[in-house]
Amino acid sequence: MEIDPKKLKVLLTEEEILEKAKEIGKQITEYYKNIDDEIIAVCALKGSVHFFSDLVKHIDHDMKYYFVRVSSYHGGTSSTGKITVNSWTNEPLEGKHILIVEDIVDTGNTIRFLINEIKKQNPASIKLTSLLIKNAHDHGIDVDFPGFEIDNYFVIGYGLDYDEKYRNLPFIGYVE
Ligand code: PRP
Repeated sequence: MEIDPKKLKVLLTEEEILEKAKEIGKQITEYYKNIDDEIIAVCALKGSVHFFSDLVKHIDHDMKYYFVRVSSYHGGTSSTGKITVNSWTNEPLEGKHILIVEDIVDTGNTIRFLINEIKKQNPASIKLTSLLIKNAHDHGIDVDFPGFEIDNYFVIGYGLDYDEKYRNLPFIGYVE
């Protein structure tokens, strides 16, 4: 597939995304307000990088960052279902409150894998936020702090790529 940037349609503007990040940040702050322990915010690279950065500024709670890189797409427009761990922080997660920050839940394979890996370390809790949630697939994933539910578009921009390109577009776009 070739993407002609001129034919891209805007699905979500930067303003809409920033507003949503602020709204979710407030919800997360409220949720953790009676928990004294720090949050470990897990940024699922690379796609989540911009949403993560927008979101954490609006979470008023002690926090540490934790970066992992897992990939399920290998240059195409659909998930292969096979997850590759490219990088994983070794800081122990036992007894910690984990907040996973994703850019998109599509088939759900990546988030299911991440949750299973984190559970192996016996955290105190695991919560999930995702900027985008595709409900075209019956993934059965319950996103605790959801962003936008979207139709079955192939989306790029704001961290999301096609063949590693277009991550730096300042909006979420799609090709019809
Ligand atoms: C994308 C996206 C999610 C995942 C969602 O990551 O960032 O992590 O796919 O798809 P799924 O629900 O079908 O598993 P990708 O593997 O492309 O890596 P990237 O974040 O580095 O682009």
